[in-house]
Amino acid sequence: MTEKDLYTEYKGVYVPKHLHPPQSLKYAEEFEFRPDDILIVTYPKSGTTWMQEMVPLIMSEGDLTPVLTVPNWDRVPWLEEHRAIVLNLEDRPAPRIFATHFHYHMMQQSYFKNKPKVIYVMRNPRDVFVSSYHYYGMASYLVKPGTLDEFLMKFINGKVMFGSWFDHVKGWLNAKNQDLIMYITYEEMIWDLKESVSKLANFLGKSLSPELIGKIAEHCTFKNMKQNNMSNYSLVPQEFMDQNKSAFLRKGICGDWKNHFTVAQAEWLDSVYKEEMKDVKFKFMWDEQ
Ligand code: A3P
Repeated sequence: MTEKDLYTEYKGVYVPKHLHPPQSLKYAEEFEFRPDDILIVTYPKSGTTWMQEMVPLIMSEGDLTPVLTVPNWDRVPWLEEHRAIVLNLEDRPAPRIFATHFHYHMMQQSYFKNKPKVIYVMRNPRDVFVSSYHYYGMASYLVKPGTLDEFLMKFINGKVMFGSWFDHVKGWLNAKNQDLIMYITYEEMIWDLKESVSKLANFLGKSLSPELIGKIAEHCTFKNMKQNNMSNYSLVPQEFMDQNKSAFLRKGICGDWKNHFTVAQAEWLDSVYKEEMKDVKFKFMWDEQ
């Protein structure tokens, strides 16, 4: 099946029809944020599920009940996904925690008016690409990726779900009200998970003991999350996600692109990256390695 069959174009980017029917996009558009909401924003495959584990654990001060009893997509629902409508999000107790893959320019009016806190997670686009490549191969609501070259062309041109990685990241890095946005990278979380939990807790106004931070970080390791049926997508029927082809929690490492790219492919993405990111001041860990 092609992009035309499986995707809708919404505000200039592709979104999978199956996950985002028109009524869900309308629901997201009209959603009323509150200033005490917490919003996790990511380009797909950048560490959304990881954050859906960490933030509830920080807010519950290490109580594992939410992450062991509620699937990640209901625990921290995407505002634009079909589940949001049935979850009665308005009545959730404060602080409500949501996720979105929206670009900055796609954000709803109430976001700019009520200014919730945002955690924006970024990941090396080379690894986002590789993670996406495997994900597109196993999810029936996404267009099959084809060869690595073919998929790289689509990724570079933003002809994938939620459009261009470059536009997403640049849009959010140029956002207003940056004091209400915490920027964090997947690479930092891999490098020092405890320190990342501690920074997140600070941003969210939670004072947690070093023991509690250690406990949360331990629960959020790749190995432990892979065993959590509420977070490893094993509840999704195989017809939608075939985890025999590729696990949702697949490798959980930095630099897997080195196992996939030819020299020519790496150079191709590097040259696009250099041009697209030339005016970006943010210091990414992956640029320094
Ligand atoms: P890989 O496919 O590279 O393994 P998202 O949740 O935004 O869709 O991102 C999914 C990616 O995050 C997958 O990457 C997944 O394995 C990784 N991930 C999820 N939880 C993780 C964890 N606790 N530690 C490291 N990586 C994690």
